[in-house]
Amino acid sequence: MLWAVTTTSQPHVDPPGQPAAGDSATLQGAGRGETPGAAPLRRSGDAAHAEPRRSSWAPGRVNLIGDHTDYNEGTALPMAVDLGVLMHLYPDPETSILSITSDAQSAPAEIDLTALDIGENLSRVTPFWARYIAAVCTVMGGVRSGGTLEITSTLPAGAGLSSSAALEVATALAFGYEGDPMTLALLTQRAEHVATGVPCGIMDQLTVAAATPGNGLLIDFHTMSLAHVPIPTSVDVVVIHSGERRSLAAGHYAERRAECEAAAVSIGPLGLASRLDLPALADPVLRRRARHVITECERVRDYARALSSGDLIGAGQLMFESHRSLAEDFEVSTPALDAMVEVLRDTPGVRGARLTGAGFGGCAVALADHGARIGEAAERYRQIYTPSTRSAAWSASLAGRYWIVEPSAGAQLIS
Ligand code: GLA
Repeated sequence: MLWAVTTTSQPHVDPPGQPAAGDSATLQGAGRGETPGAAPLRRSGDAAHAEPRRSSWAPGRVNLIGDHTDYNEGTALPMAVDLGVLMHLYPDPETSILSITSDAQSAPAEIDLTALDIGENLSRVTPFWARYIAAVCTVMGGVRSGGTLEITSTLPAGAGLSSSAALEVATALAFGYEGDPMTLALLTQRAEHVATGVPCGIMDQLTVAAATPGNGLLIDFHTMSLAHVPIPTSVDVVVIHSGERRSLAAGHYAERRAECEAAAVSIGPLGLASRLDLPALADPVLRRRARHVITECERVRDYARALSSGDLIGAGQLMFESHRSLAEDFEVSTPALDAMVEVLRDTPGVRGARLTGAGFGGCAVALADHGARIGEAAERYRQIYTPSTRSAAWSASLAGRYWIVEPSAGAQLIS
């Protein structure tokens, strides 16, 4: 599902506000939580008839707490990060062919925009990654002028940092979407459904579209209301990769969603239910799924309060509890993610840690005091954890790689 990028083989820390290793020159100069400014570029071979370039930036996101709550009308508290996708579109009204290059992909892709049709021709768009762009053009409607699209990304591969949402939102802006962040999120969520068939919720696209610098985004998915919660500057937000690339296309995500819907038939939307409703669920699996969602929504509210009052011990404890609930009740963790969270728990200065996003691989997120020895924790993780079976999703070069990320602004059209 994710937008893959080339990564370096060595783990490293990116100083706050600086681009990650492997960034292209166009990403240089990003400040704390700011949109990277792109120096004007001239693409060689610009056609005389070409229209002005349009450039957009969309961040990835990390979810601090509240997973598998969005499609249950619950609550979550994600934030946008200072890693993301930068796009330059050189429209050419003379052609319907869109040529796409990406620093993450070895070969370019081509899409004929006049041949797109929701649910029919999209499955024929290859390579797979080009489908996200095709899907956005499709759901926007009326996108017929091709040209050249150049993409650079600093988001790590298969990490659960919403690289596909970033790609979708950046595409919509580059192709001229104008409107409020909520409508942009709904449009690009639909594109994700069309591109992948995975029935994802709206957390990723909404965070990418609506986040503000310095803040987490407290989202109530029942009322669809947003509140901006300052992230204390006394802590670092650390994202650390388990080494397992994540894919939602395997069907586990849809399975969990279906289980939640089955539980909701008895007790209503799980995000609005309470612990008192749990005995009404006879099926033990559905009861555990519901218990995760119900308690996770409680944790989100407590976490927002803890952050606001500077209670970092309390916030960290809620993150550990969230991980346990995702692992035991919702069963979306992996032995690798569990090992990572345990290593982080034993690391001085780490206040809390949990898997982030859908699970099934990807990253953990931690709140850590400045100067906490995350590099040593990553090294310990690499020493104790090796996959028991040779997994196609395992990447030794990603295991333990980490980023200190800044709460950042949502997507923007740069020019
Ligand atoms: C994925 C989905 C989101 C959300 C998370 C889990 O990232 O795209 O909508 O459901 O998983 O919280």
